[in-house]
Amino acid sequence: MQPTQAFDNSTLVSNPSSEFAESGRLLTKENWVNEGLLQSLQSELEQCEHLAHRNYVPGFKKGAAISWFDIQRNAPTTAALYKSKELLEWVSSLVGEDVQLCPLDDPHACAFYIYSEPGDHIGFHYDTSHYRGKRFTLLLGIEDESSCILKCELNRKYPNGKPLERRDVKIKPGMAVLFDGDVIYHAVTPLGENERRVILTLEFITDSRMSGFGRFITKIKDGVGYFGLRSVFSANRTPRTHH
Ligand SMILES: [Fe+2]
Repeated sequence: MQPTQAFDNSTLVSNPSSEFAESGRLLTKENWVNEGLLQSLQSELEQCEHLAHRNYVPGFKKGAAISWFDIQRNAPTTAALYKSKELLEWVSSLVGEDVQLCPLDDPHACAFYIYSEPGDHIGFHYDTSHYRGKRFTLLLGIEDESSCILKCELNRKYPNGKPLERRDVKIKPGMAVLFDGDVIYHAVTPLGENERRVILTLEFITDSRMSGFGRFITKIKDGVGYFGLRSVFSANRTPRTHH
């Protein structure tokens, strides 16, 4: 599988970074992943779903996640997509900044987020991390037989004279959503009965440095909220935040 042809990177030529800025730092691309890659990602998800860790923060979020550690070991196509040079170039081109992968000991670097039980959701939040630079999130729809909506509020944190804009995004399989979660207030509505939704999240940053204290707080958040304390405090594993 060659990630080069696996997704639509035609925007590299025709789509300068201004599109990202003009769209409020939230870009959606339907059918971005080709059918072959989508099937590979779905099949790898199926193979490692038993590794998913359920999390529950009362009043804020509920769901399951498969960390980057487990993806690296069990999902080679998914890992190759995250590490592909072409993807880095595509994201850098769209956001207008040189981005890099998260440190490979960050469990959120690339992770599956699975909603499989009624009520799975995440409340409104900004993505915060202790990395010094910016962080951009690419969401890929893997499965969606759900009523879940990604709800976004643009121009809320830094209005700059612009009115608040609400945008609802239905993330279909194969669809890409690239956004700046630090400035876009966002949430995912609760999963209904007999529904299921899986997203692959890929994180890109502009500066991988993190303070020692930030690193510690991040480990606590990741352990309690996402992947389990045993996972994030094991040797050679050092993380941060997201859903
Ligand atoms: Fe988020």
